[in-house]
Amino acid sequence: MEIIKTVDLKKSFTNQTVKTEVLKGINISINKGDFTGIVGPSGSGKTTLLYCLSSLETITAGNVFFMGKDISKYSEIELANLRKYSLGFVFQFYNLIPNLTVYENVLLPKIIANKKEDNIESILETVGMLNYKDYYPNQLSGGMQQRVAIARALVNEPTIIFADEPTGNLDQKNGLEIMKILKKLNKEKDITVILVTHNEDYLEFCNKKIHLIDGRTS
Ligand SMILES: Nc1ncnc2c1ncn2[C@@H]1O[C@H](COP(=O)(O)OP(=O)(O)OP(=O)(O)O)[C@@H](O)[C@H]1O
Ligand SMILES: [Mg+2]
Repeated sequence: MEIIKTVDLKKSFTNQTVKTEVLKGINISINKGDFTGIVGPSGSGKTTLLYCLSSLETITAGNVFFMGKDISKYSEIELANLRKYSLGFVFQFYNLIPNLTVYENVLLPKIIANKKEDNIESILETVGMLNYKDYYPNQLSGGMQQRVAIARALVNEPTIIFADEPTGNLDQKNGLEIMKILKKLNKEKDITVILVTHNEDYLEFCNKKIHLIDGRTS
């Protein structure tokens, strides 16, 4: 089943008088259960593409379809609901809230979505962080913080996880661990993963590759 499709997607940024065309007509299709890797040189538009696919960034022209629906036509409320209930995000810098514990950081999106506090411990177990549930982020290594960030992305049972260089700040061993967790979620929970990475070695985890060069797929 097709979960994301773009038709001639374009994105430009205009700063004062200068217009920069970053995405120059992207046509891609991603199926449910795919593990997609977006690669390409720095500045080629990878993050911009990920943000346009996940509705974090508005698009300039073309269409982005999520399960057949054109999200560029969604209202702000519809977009907020899509992000809250169907999408999970993992970034290079873990963005955990420093004065909340591991448990509370993972719980937070549930509270925001008005859901019951039920499966937090099992999710922490999935990412191997249950023993650290009462720790604060600054008491954890980078790899551990990223596991918590993945747990937080999982808490509302997303259909898709978008990850922008989730291993970018980690050493090789911890980076590989994070990739294995994402792969496990992809296989066992059928979560679609869309990942931006600089590391070509990680493409072996992906069944689909999007290679961007100067705002176009190659
Ligand atoms: N908010 C913005 N305003 C203006 N230009 C922007 C903005 N965001 C991105 N750009 C420009 O878009 C281009 C692509 O940026 P993007 O962050 O998508 O690249 P990237 O492929 O993710 O690079 P990297 O590998 O370094 O993270 C760059 O030239 C950047 O300067
Ligand atoms: Mg980037």
